[in-house]
Amino acid sequence: MCGIIGYVGPRQAQDVIIGGLRRMEYRGYDSAGIAVVADAGLALAKKAGKLANLVAELAESPLPPSTQGIGHTRWATHGGPTDGNAHPHASQTGRVAVVHNGIIENFASLRADLEAEGVTFASETDTEVAAQLLGREVERAGSLVDAMRAVCNRLEGAFTLVAVDALSPGRIVAARRNSPLVVGVGVGEMFVASDVAAFIEYTREAVELGQDQVVEVTPDGYEVTSFTGEAAPSHPYHIDWDLSAAEKGGYDWFMRKEIFEQPRAVSDTLLGRLDGEGRLVLDEIRIDDAELRRVDKIVIVACGTAFYAGMVAKYAIEHWTRVPCEVEIASEFRYRDPIITPTTLVVTISQSGETADTLMAIRHAREQHAKVIAICNTNGATIPRESDAVIYTHAGPEIGVASTKGFTTQIVACYLLGLYLAQVKETKYGDEIRDLLSELEQLPAKMQHVLDGLDQMAGLARDFIGCKSLLFLGRHVGYPVALEGALKLKELSYLHAEGFPAGELKHGPIALVEDGLPVFVVVPPQGRDQLHDKVVSNIQEVRARGALTVVLAEEGDDEARPYADIFVELPKVPTLFQPLVAVIPLQFFACELATLLGHDVDQPRNLAKSVTVE
Ligand code: G6P
Repeated sequence: MCGIIGYVGPRQAQDVIIGGLRRMEYRGYDSAGIAVVADAGLALAKKAGKLANLVAELAESPLPPSTQGIGHTRWATHGGPTDGNAHPHASQTGRVAVVHNGIIENFASLRADLEAEGVTFASETDTEVAAQLLGREVERAGSLVDAMRAVCNRLEGAFTLVAVDALSPGRIVAARRNSPLVVGVGVGEMFVASDVAAFIEYTREAVELGQDQVVEVTPDGYEVTSFTGEAAPSHPYHIDWDLSAAEKGGYDWFMRKEIFEQPRAVSDTLLGRLDGEGRLVLDEIRIDDAELRRVDKIVIVACGTAFYAGMVAKYAIEHWTRVPCEVEIASEFRYRDPIITPTTLVVTISQSGETADTLMAIRHAREQHAKVIAICNTNGATIPRESDAVIYTHAGPEIGVASTKGFTTQIVACYLLGLYLAQVKETKYGDEIRDLLSELEQLPAKMQHVLDGLDQMAGLARDFIGCKSLLFLGRHVGYPVALEGALKLKELSYLHAEGFPAGELKHGPIALVEDGLPVFVVVPPQGRDQLHDKVVSNIQEVRARGALTVVLAEEGDDEARPYADIFVELPKVPTLFQPLVAVIPLQFFACELATLLGHDVDQPRNLAKSVTVE
């Protein structure tokens, strides 16, 4: 959601900023804009719609040369996605320009005060309040950084602000509360951005900013202070991936590339987790074992695909640790007064580490003195920073809005956590844990096998191009896979798709079944309790009512095969690990179908990669 960039250095700011905005397009947006500080003052350009519209506008009316500027891709909240509401917003005097990510909750009263004092607003946005306040404050305070602190102290809500002042060339000031911001440190040039993808082309050295901090950058350095002006700590770090990871590498879509990266991503997430004695080590866990032994309840909170990864994790964690585990949508968690005690372990799952609802959920949990472990893919993001411990997934940057390798690596990280807890609590013997880990280590090769056979799903997408509605059924860990399969289709194809627990079929969903309705069914491996046979019965039930059955089942499953109109073979894996192979054909099917329908797979309409407002 909203991509922000600021640049100061020797290069032409417009080129750096447009390039940075292009790399942040995946975050989701509906208008874009840029402001530079030129000899004659501020120059702005902004356009509704895709970045290409802004680029076309700049080709017709180029901005003056400048080596300092700010840019923005906006995901509309207050005020529609129009040229006028696009950022940057300038103060009435035209002295300062501001870009913003987040929501200024008290903007209405601030705007009313400013209007009463004679300020005329040019947009319907909450952001313009910050621009107008900053314009007035900079006259009073004299410096942009002092003005920024004064303004931040008046704002409520979530915001990252980046500002330039026509009278302070060679300087950018940024501030953050609850929304992401990272500083990129180049040689003789500096960047600020919502995420490192914006400047990875120029530098792999970055600085994390903390909560309620202001940073002033010049080409040669940066200074971080609190909102009250004291020097504040910042954390420099090296980005462990490079430009090639943020490019498509020959694929038509980032999503397709990311689907095919899954074996590597899962291997990397598993890498280096055993010590010399064969014991599982998670060195990012900064909670001591005694405390973990006392844990009597686990609550997983997450949003979207990460929530479904959490649903899969619940089965494994409860099975291995015998500790009750709840999974909850982050936006619901905080508002229902959940029962959290100091012996509750809260686990958050977030690919971006910036999802506002998940962040608010962990703050709530920590207020109740619970320990929080984050499972996250983004080094230094806010959620891991505010957690007691973190297990990083090593998926590399995920650019496609619809999460793929994020999902499978999150499941693997949750398994590692479950096995670690089982080791600490001694609910599993060491050799059992080692056996499970060695099964997990075989997963990347099995995932590769699934990827090698995806032509079948491409054919299926061609056959199903006219479908209006699809159902997904699963049971046990196959149920969240069914939900994820349906979510991928909704996100990418804009088709009606629902996932259900197969056992609920007769309590409602079966009424949806009619002639020719595609029903995808994830069948548990054979020989496990009676689950397998029950799901096979469900396939027969929907088929008897005219459904076209797409059955995802283990190779050699001759009991399921006769009822499959299309049989999708999965490699043999233990039941708990089946989601890692079963989800791949569903991800690929959604990607293929959306491509055939002519949709933008990487940036589906209305969606944002990282939802940084509640
Ligand atoms: C958005 C994305 C989803 C993602 C969800 C949670 O809705 O479009 O793909 O699953 O946010 O994101 P997170 O970064 O917290 O995993």
